[in-house]
Amino acid sequence: MTITTCIFDAYGTLFDVAAAARQAAGEPGNAALAEIWPQLAEDWRRKQLEYSWLRAITGAHDSFWQVTQDGLDWAMAAAGLSDPNLRERLLALYWQLGAYPEVPQMLADLKAAGMATAILSNGSPDMLAGAVDSAGIGALLDDVLSVETVGVFKPHASVYALVEDRFACARDQVLFVSSNGWDAGCASGYGFTTAWVNRAGLPMDRLPWQPAHVLSDLTAIPQLVTRAA
Ligand code: LAC
Repeated sequence: MTITTCIFDAYGTLFDVAAAARQAAGEPGNAALAEIWPQLAEDWRRKQLEYSWLRAITGAHDSFWQVTQDGLDWAMAAAGLSDPNLRERLLALYWQLGAYPEVPQMLADLKAAGMATAILSNGSPDMLAGAVDSAGIGALLDDVLSVETVGVFKPHASVYALVEDRFACARDQVLFVSSNGWDAGCASGYGFTTAWVNRAGLPMDRLPWQPAHVLSDLTAIPQLVTRAA
């Protein structure tokens, strides 16, 4: 099988989702957050994803921006934080998440190898545009695909199908890369070749499908693709 198309999940994979809480924790006036920010970041992310799955299952779709706000509200309540200015600051930072340090070189190497590259994300187009812009990686991506085109969140099959529609490729020509074990597993089930970026050293998700590759960061993606080709 020859890989022609490299598709990346956005949040947690290219963009560091913990960066918003980490940065706000270091700012003046946020001493309460500084004490607990890793827990808040984890709760925020977990609830954001749970709400996305529940909306997909029930057909009650709303934007990723909505579930991002809902997840933060739960996480702040769980932490006993109710400062509206802190809420606004955390949400504003979510539009400017930095990319992981290896991302620009990795994408440049894929482009040099002739690969098509794109994001496939739950994020709404405006959120994704903000993150791509602040990370300065727009020129290294052929497209940014959002679930808003189909109105349902991952791991619905119609989301993964956006890749074949856009790039006119077969499923097994796609390397799909995600730091979310469930996303990599479900994309394997869909028929993509997958890489799970397991930065935190988490156990494998217990799903009927497993990722083809497990990596600790994104550095080896170009080698992986060249080898597969
Ligand atoms: C995304 C989330 C799932 O970018 O990380 O789609």
